[in-house]
Amino acid sequence: MDLPYRVLAPGEAPPSDTVAPPRRPRWSDTLAYIVDPDQFCRQNLARHGPIFQTGVFGGTTVFVGDPAAIQMAFNGDGIYTEIGLPPTTMAMFGEYSLFQRPDLHRQRKAALRPGFTGTLLSTYVPHMHRVIAHHLQTWSAAAPLALVPAVEKISFDVLAPLLLGIPFDQGDLALQGLPIASKAELKRLYKTFFDGFYGLVKWRSLLTAFGRGYKARETLINFMRAVIQRRKANPEPEPEPTDFLGMMLAEQQAEPDGVFSNNLIENQCLLQLWASHYEVTGLAASWLYQMGQYPAIVERLRIEQAQVMGNNPFDEVTPATLKQMPYLEATIKETLRVLPPSSTATRRLTQSVILDGVHYQKGWSLIAEPRIAHAMAAHFTNPDQFDPDRFLPDRDEGRPNEFIPFGGGVHACLGAQLAMTLMKILALHLLNRFDWQGLGTATFVQFPLKQIKNDYQIQLMSRSTER
Ligand code: HEM
Repeated sequence: MDLPYRVLAPGEAPPSDTVAPPRRPRWSDTLAYIVDPDQFCRQNLARHGPIFQTGVFGGTTVFVGDPAAIQMAFNGDGIYTEIGLPPTTMAMFGEYSLFQRPDLHRQRKAALRPGFTGTLLSTYVPHMHRVIAHHLQTWSAAAPLALVPAVEKISFDVLAPLLLGIPFDQGDLALQGLPIASKAELKRLYKTFFDGFYGLVKWRSLLTAFGRGYKARETLINFMRAVIQRRKANPEPEPEPTDFLGMMLAEQQAEPDGVFSNNLIENQCLLQLWASHYEVTGLAASWLYQMGQYPAIVERLRIEQAQVMGNNPFDEVTPATLKQMPYLEATIKETLRVLPPSSTATRRLTQSVILDGVHYQKGWSLIAEPRIAHAMAAHFTNPDQFDPDRFLPDRDEGRPNEFIPFGGGVHACLGAQLAMTLMKILALHLLNRFDWQGLGTATFVQFPLKQIKNDYQIQLMSRSTER
């Protein structure tokens, strides 16, 4: 296949008619980006177009929002790019993550995929219904609800059993005999682990976020080791896998020298919860926030829901049923477009690349930014408008490399289907039980993930027609 870009051989000079991307890196760029990434991206998009140089995170970092440049950034792994994350983040990922060991990436990713798609994803659905219905019973219209903490609880209680293999419907009893005794302690450690990824100095001291995160990581790995041992010691034969851990253990049993070593399994359980929990919380809170502002959209969603489901009970909703609700999917995609929870990881160029007459120099970094790509009028009609219809088939906006909330290319998100399924089921339950309204305009934590601040509240109204 002809690629639209050319990788220069080591030492090869760029053709004389090539240019550098516009704008010079500035020392103030990192702070400006971290404080308000939306504004940073929009202002520079307006002044310089969708590709521009910055000094974000040191050196020269080129931000790309144009589809051809995004495709170039997403597909260079092991050929002309490497993951360019800070040493603290890489140490927290550890050698069993998909961001380390590019030589093993393809094999590991293929082996992990069945844990988040297809048959196993379908078997997760009844658990999602149960946990969501249970939580929503505790949501009350009597007083304003702090949105993010409420959604975060649902996200954890859905995802932790599926990814860590712990049946939390038994409460803390599920942790009996394990080195972490309560769900509260597990969540606290998890947050410390998460914060460690963004520590500034790689110093293993409890005085630093990295040091505390690394310590939490060790405790969590020991915990997972005990979970796995307990599972293997269970004399009952494992039925067909119903969670991610069960899938990996079954594969290990079938092929003891295959991809799934004990180390890989315990690390992957932790990393997948890391990759999903805060992202899903961010998406779910943002969707609720957006829907709270557009009652007409909510009514259309209810009409679609009634047409597809009739009076069938919720626990009969499967991934196939969800496929028949394109408008629901469109509202989630539009939320991801205007409020993408995260950017993509930095890639460092190990070779120079020429694309569309622009020279991307070896040693520079690339960040494919949804905040630029999703704001481009060339690909999204009236990009400042919240308009889910753009994602319906007749408009068909949001093509690959133009709509990138889940990244793309080599490191495309492995959990996109899982996240969308969970978000849709949560939406169906919410639409059935409540109307809601945001109390004022939300403010956001911008970095490392975009998320509504914890103190933002919504007011629920119970629906009289609830099933
Ligand atoms: C709203 C929810 C989510 C969002 C917005 C999101 C976003 C992303 C993005 C942007 C990337 C690409 C990173 C890059 O190329 O630099 C990514 C990768 C990844 N995501 Fe997600 N994610 C979500 C949910 C999940 C879930 C539920 C899981 C698994 C349970 C997951 C697992 C992963 C993994 C394993 C990768 C790395 C894939 C690789 O390196 O090949 N994500 N995600």
